[in-house]
Amino acid sequence: MPGAQPGTPSDALVFFGASGDLARKSIFPSLYRMVAAGGLRVPVVGVAFSQWTLDDLRQRAREAVEAAGDVDEQVLDRLLSLLRYVDGDYNDPATFTHLREALAECSSPTHYLAIPPALFGTVVSGLRGVGLNENARVVVEKPFGRDLASARELNAVIASAFDEPAIFRIDHFLGKEEIMNLLYFRFANAMFEPIWNRNYIETVQITFAEDFGVRGRGSFYESAGALRDVVENHLFQIVALLTMEAPTYRGYGAVQSAKANVFKAMRPLTRQDYVRGQFVGYRDEEGVAPHSDVETFAAVRLHIDSWRWAGVPFYLRTGKCLAVSAGEVVVDFKRPPQALFGDALDPDQHPNRLRFRLQPEGEIGLGVRVKRPGEEFVGHEQELLLPTESPLERSPYERLLTDALNGDSALFTHEDSVEAAWRVVDGILEDRPAAIPYQPGTWGPEEAAGRLIGEDGPWHNPRP
Ligand code: BG6
Repeated sequence: MPGAQPGTPSDALVFFGASGDLARKSIFPSLYRMVAAGGLRVPVVGVAFSQWTLDDLRQRAREAVEAAGDVDEQVLDRLLSLLRYVDGDYNDPATFTHLREALAECSSPTHYLAIPPALFGTVVSGLRGVGLNENARVVVEKPFGRDLASARELNAVIASAFDEPAIFRIDHFLGKEEIMNLLYFRFANAMFEPIWNRNYIETVQITFAEDFGVRGRGSFYESAGALRDVVENHLFQIVALLTMEAPTYRGYGAVQSAKANVFKAMRPLTRQDYVRGQFVGYRDEEGVAPHSDVETFAAVRLHIDSWRWAGVPFYLRTGKCLAVSAGEVVVDFKRPPQALFGDALDPDQHPNRLRFRLQPEGEIGLGVRVKRPGEEFVGHEQELLLPTESPLERSPYERLLTDALNGDSALFTHEDSVEAAWRVVDGILEDRPAAIPYQPGTWGPEEAAGRLIGEDGPWHNPRP
């Protein structure tokens, strides 16, 4: 099976979907920063079906980079000089013949598919048809499939042209500093390991909230919804990093298999574990069906049936048009076994907790109780706060595309993890409760606070 050797740098980046939204918002600004950092020196071939010329692509790249922040003209010129362009229908074999001509000087390209998943198969077959899968890598964007069956099909199609080490499935959350820090924090500090299990942990909550709507991506969102868009991939990856066993050796394979074991141990979700919501006004968005039942809010109760996690509920929620934009994990520890102090029965007294703030800035807070001065043995909660360093200029895409070009797959997801994650949500993709309307600017439908989390609550709502 052809495929670039792990670790061999690619000599071109081919970029399908060059005229699209993801390219404008994330990819061009990242390519610009890669050039600035000296990590991108190879030709970048944009491919799209837009009747564009190379000048149009350069213009788009310039606009995208300028919209993202301050621009160093020399760096931008270097990026523009690396660009090539191929226009054509992905269903037309001639498009791939032109691409091969554009890559005449290159022998080990990385193909990045920043296109709707429905087109992955077509593009992969086109690449194979002209031999562009030889000595090459492929990077695919999420969502990887729509359900277990389509993910399997997709894996099979891609595997027909690339072998597994040459396939890079992007989940851009894995390129975020604060999320990488979950893995580091857990396994670089041995003091947490003895308490990191069902004996000491009561519940875990993960909130990824956005205070904006679908931002013009209505038609994409109609085919996805919050469960597919964020829960099944981004939030599950966070769960895996929080709960995996220690990797048995230093290397990417060990992390991948430890994470895959978590996905395999997740109990398939049922409709009782799931609350869906839709913000009022979603149906007026462009590209959204007037009677759409697609969820813009999803909350689930998840169990991991492993020795370490049996009986610990994980509550995950995400949504558009919520009260704030922030991402946080809160690990609630069990209460002391005896109520020794006068304030122990105070209903407002929290158990200890560890809070990882992931967005918009990183911080780690350890909630502990401290005695108040005075005769009484009563106290209050204080948080030991560790602000993590503000993220570097490096965006997740910059990190991930650089890694893919260098053949480093540590931060990408593996076939068996993808399929195992789909297996967990497969049952509730169809058999699901109706989406409950919620007002923008709130924390979503009441049912998430009531029926779903109940006495394990309340939800910890992150600050803005
Ligand atoms: C994307 C989802 O994968 O992640 C979007 O498709 C979501 O709906 C986005 O807004 C959140 O990522 P970030 O990095 O912009 O916070």
